[in-house]
Amino acid sequence: MSNTFLKLNGTDFVEFYVGNAKQAAYFYMTAFGFQPLAYRGLETGDKEKTSYVLKQGKVTLVMTAALTPDSPVAEHQKLHGDGIKFIALWVDDARSAFEETTKRGAKPFLEPTVIKDDDGEVVKSGIYTYGETVHLFIERKNYKGSFMPGFVKWESEYKTEEIGFKYVDHLVGNVGWNEMEKTAQFYYDVMGFTKFASFDDKDISTDYTALQSIVVTNDNRRIKFPINEPAKGKKKSQIEEYLDFYHGPGGQHIALATDNIIHAVSELRKRGIEFLYIPDDYYDSVPERVGEIDEDLKVLKKLGILVDKDDKGYLLQIFTKPVQDRPTFFFEIIQRKGAESFGKGNFKALFVSIEKEQERRGTL
Ligand code: FE2
Repeated sequence: MSNTFLKLNGTDFVEFYVGNAKQAAYFYMTAFGFQPLAYRGLETGDKEKTSYVLKQGKVTLVMTAALTPDSPVAEHQKLHGDGIKFIALWVDDARSAFEETTKRGAKPFLEPTVIKDDDGEVVKSGIYTYGETVHLFIERKNYKGSFMPGFVKWESEYKTEEIGFKYVDHLVGNVGWNEMEKTAQFYYDVMGFTKFASFDDKDISTDYTALQSIVVTNDNRRIKFPINEPAKGKKKSQIEEYLDFYHGPGGQHIALATDNIIHAVSELRKRGIEFLYIPDDYYDSVPERVGEIDEDLKVLKKLGILVDKDDKGYLLQIFTKPVQDRPTFFFEIIQRKGAESFGKGNFKALFVSIEKEQERRGTL
């Protein structure tokens, strides 16, 4: 089933509402190797909020913080902590994207709006998805500036070496009990997505924690959104822990694609990024489970990189610890060598590791 009513070219940017955009931007430059792109704030006439736009490969992140206590940014940050507000999607026609999705039941966030500067114009519109998270539709075909009207080029003398991130492989949302099917249905009906894969608690459970997941994708498959919901286990699911601390549904992790995960993870570790701990014995079964791989297993083991395969090839992946104070959002780094799946074979090892972290936090 393909759709003709909503054509999405890919992810345009992901915008976080954070407590301190300046320091968050420094973190993403220093640790993740993002490059300064654009800025908005008091100096550009915005008295309510300030934003730093960072870029690496095709990944654009925006860090936004409130300048006043009554800003919606402050409200969002107070409730949810630092987290994703906008998952912006790149379209050729933001007016029709808004019309077609709201006609099919999407809750509007922003009517089509034209913004202009000397570099041209951008049309943007937006609809709500899970929780307070919003999909913006960004039409930039008549714009030649670096980011968007309202922003100026961010001139920074501070530059760091890129890590080698290329694009957003997938972006995961956590939703509440009995909301996964409903959320997937929203993507099918309202956005014309199809089901890419699904996992249930038989795939994903340990002694304690459990979750189920449906992955939805758009026509050209450049956008993949796995949707997780908790499942019943002996103790509290990691998804429940997220929902408790985020106070509702929201973005759980972004998977960043790289062509060289060994380099990426070595570099990230050097720059202070912490990853979930994987016990050494995980690697004992890798040769049998995955078969031959190009990488040296000893190196993967040293770095804590996980391996899984499907019928199309294999993949290498690793998960950071949460990147802010609340145990909510984190990153995945992924290198695909043919495989199109999401590392189902690693779920068990990962969840045991996550549970150890939960135990330390007293949230299990
Ligand atoms: Fe993932």
